[in-house]
Amino acid sequence: MPHTYIRTKSDYKAGIPFQKAEHDFTLIIFGASGSLAKLKLFPSLYQLHLEKRTPKDFKIVGFARTAMAQEDFKKEFADAVRAKFKDMTDEKILASVLKNVSYFAGQYDSEIDYQGLKRHLEKIEKGKEKRVRLSYLSTPPSVFDAVITCLGKAKLDTKLCKMRLIVEKPFGYNYESAKALEATLTEHFEEQQFFLLDHYLGKEPVFNLLSLRYANPILTSLIRGEYISNIQIHGLEKLGTEGRANYFDHVGSVRDMVQSHLLQILAFLTMDLPEKITCESVHRAKRNLIESLLLKDKKDSIVRGQYKGYVKEDGVTPKSQTETFVALRLFIDDLNWHNVPIYLRTGKKLKTQLTSVVIEFKPQPLQKNNAKLKPNKLVIQLQPAEKIEFHLLTKMGGSEVDFIPLNTGRPIYCSGDCLDEHSRLLLDVIEGDKMLFLEFPEIYAAWKVVDKITEYFSAEKPSLHLYEPGSLGPKASDQLLEKFGHTWHNSE
Ligand SMILES: NC(=O)c1ccc[n+]([C@@H]2O[C@H](COP(=O)([O-])OP(=O)(O)OC[C@H]3O[C@@H](n4cnc5c(N)ncnc54)[C@H](OP(=O)(O)O)[C@@H]3O)[C@@H](O)[C@H]2O)c1
Repeated sequence: MPHTYIRTKSDYKAGIPFQKAEHDFTLIIFGASGSLAKLKLFPSLYQLHLEKRTPKDFKIVGFARTAMAQEDFKKEFADAVRAKFKDMTDEKILASVLKNVSYFAGQYDSEIDYQGLKRHLEKIEKGKEKRVRLSYLSTPPSVFDAVITCLGKAKLDTKLCKMRLIVEKPFGYNYESAKALEATLTEHFEEQQFFLLDHYLGKEPVFNLLSLRYANPILTSLIRGEYISNIQIHGLEKLGTEGRANYFDHVGSVRDMVQSHLLQILAFLTMDLPEKITCESVHRAKRNLIESLLLKDKKDSIVRGQYKGYVKEDGVTPKSQTETFVALRLFIDDLNWHNVPIYLRTGKKLKTQLTSVVIEFKPQPLQKNNAKLKPNKLVIQLQPAEKIEFHLLTKMGGSEVDFIPLNTGRPIYCSGDCLDEHSRLLLDVIEGDKMLFLEFPEIYAAWKVVDKITEYFSAEKPSLHLYEPGSLGPKASDQLLEKFGHTWHNSE
């Protein structure tokens, strides 16, 4: 519901404020013939227009190597929108978006083609230069260097501002390659020009973790190490590699999910709350938190797994040791979080699709004396349904003092100015707001954690536990917690 939420007349009547692009813009999508463009970007652009969030004058230019007639590209755009919105598609609105769509075929590393692109922009913009130009790198990372270098030389700045560049995760493959990416970017662009996009940060419930802590003293007081027995963050996927095995087999779950999405969620949940929420203070606090993560004895802290049948998939090397599942035990090197284990778990082809945060509180005497009485928990579910649950105990009726679990929970799906993540992030770039984008220092901090894990995989070759598709991962993942007296929170 929230991700395809469409504003209704009553929303407008209620005067709910909404974010929209205040500046005219031209968006150039590199890799426009690819999957991300079709799955996410085209539908998001349509939705922005449908909800009247686009400015008076906007242009969308697809750039890729594939030779395509203008009409064929427009058809791909329209088909992608119809595939997402099905019979809810407003054909009139779609037609008015398509009027602003064009395609330019070129090589990613040809400076001549970028000059051609520049002339194409000047032609379609008709001299209206008071606009923001954005370039979206929706290509595989192997092409980033070429595009960044050629774009830098092409000088696509306008009279209004310098060109802005959106770079999709992954930001490198490890610490070293992230450094190289930053070097390429800073050689050609100023820091305020590039926007490092991890789409999880555009998800309303992820940023809401910080807002919840900020707005609710009850949570601020409770989310403290002294009361907490352990924290769990789950990024469970039902899907497998979905046609991206070539990419995934090279990367694995730790780089794909932990490096960015899960560590960002952890940071929003546990970072020091800055006095004022600003772009700078939030980035600093996240970076400090990620820098303070500790991985104690690796053998007792890391479990890797692979679903049965993975190595037979197209695009996967036959004896691949790539993990499709990982469970981790981390600590935060901070007095407030002293000795509180943080368990992260992510994997593909699992029983359930779920992103959630579980905070388990320390058992009190009553619970310690009766194993049936489970400790209190705060469960914040981010996807698919967004909800908050408190797991409490309530006394049963009668003269005996006996307790039963009481789960209080309600959906908290976005009910205001709701946008899917790519629409929201695109608007932020047009308006130059970097709050929900990453910065290199926090990316480096995250790679330092992840590099320790992947180096351990290569050097010590720990068991790669096979698990059944449709399960909750290998048994070793449960044992990782049991050893320390904890269990995964598995309810959906
Ligand atoms: N798809 C997703 O759901 C998703 C999610 C999160 C992040 N991302 C990131 O977003 C970016 C784009 O992802 P995508 O799935 O859309 O990629 P993709 O479909 O594999 O590639 C996009 C386009 O890039 C060109 N291309 C592909 N391989 C190339 C190569 N080896 N050399 C030069 N050009 C090549 C192709 O266009 P032409 O041949 O026409 O030039 C292709 O249509 C990637 O960085 C990916 O990691 C994707």
